[in-house]
Amino acid sequence: QHFSEPEQPLKGKKVLITAGPTKEKIDPVRYLTNHSSGKMGYALAEEAEKMGAEVVLISGPSTLPVPTGVKCISIETAENMYEQVLKYFPSADIVIKSAAVADYRPKQTSQQKIKKKDGNLILEFERTKDILMELGKRKEHQYLVGFAAETEKLEEHAYGKLERKNADMIIANDLTAKGAGFSADTNIVTIVQKNHRPKKLPLLSKNETAKRILEEIVKNRTEEDH
Ligand code: CTP
Ligand code: CA
Repeated sequence: QHFSEPEQPLKGKKVLITAGPTKEKIDPVRYLTNHSSGKMGYALAEEAEKMGAEVVLISGPSTLPVPTGVKCISIETAENMYEQVLKYFPSADIVIKSAAVADYRPKQTSQQKIKKKDGNLILEFERTKDILMELGKRKEHQYLVGFAAETEKLEEHAYGKLERKNADMIIANDLTAKGAGFSADTNIVTIVQKNHRPKKLPLLSKNETAKRILEEIVKNRTEEDH
């Protein structure tokens, strides 16, 4: 159900959202990925669209249905995601990076299946580009929101990422909390911003969490006059 006029605070705004895992090839049969389901990002896309936004969702492999009215671009690797995000970044008003992007990829992708041998296998990995960090450097009018997935020192790490990546907001995810995490339909997040106390949201559905995050973004964009 769509809101009527006054409740469409994102009307006319372009919102760019990334979601899901990335997938890095090791050889023709193997790859490196993570447990991200994409649910948080898809929920954000759905709720942003309901709030009137024009939404582009750049998604790693996910089985979730694309929310109505949302333009979805499917990618696999961190490098693919980087290229697509940079393409849409200049025209975006709000960017939300909820994707779980690989920090490393295999230094070499083997063209042939790697055959087993006696002893251990050692693979070398190289760093991928940090997309959020890159956006933080290029940021002009855009309101930039990152996520932080943590297993310890949640707020300390989240504030560190806020600073380091020049983001306007970080959504900190405690991966050890009950009812939070990758494949759950619920989440518990803490919203972290410069010059604000951290705001811990209760255990909520991912759609309700998404709504609260978007409302907080709307509030802060008006404060900061983005
Ligand atoms: N991110 C990104 N590009 C990467 C890695 C991460 O854009 N190559 C983004 C994520 O989408 C997220 C934010 O950076 O919005 C934080 O990701 P996270 O994995 O929590 O932090 P990292 O900076 O990668 O640090 P670490 O994994 O060591 O905690
Ligand atoms: Ca990471």
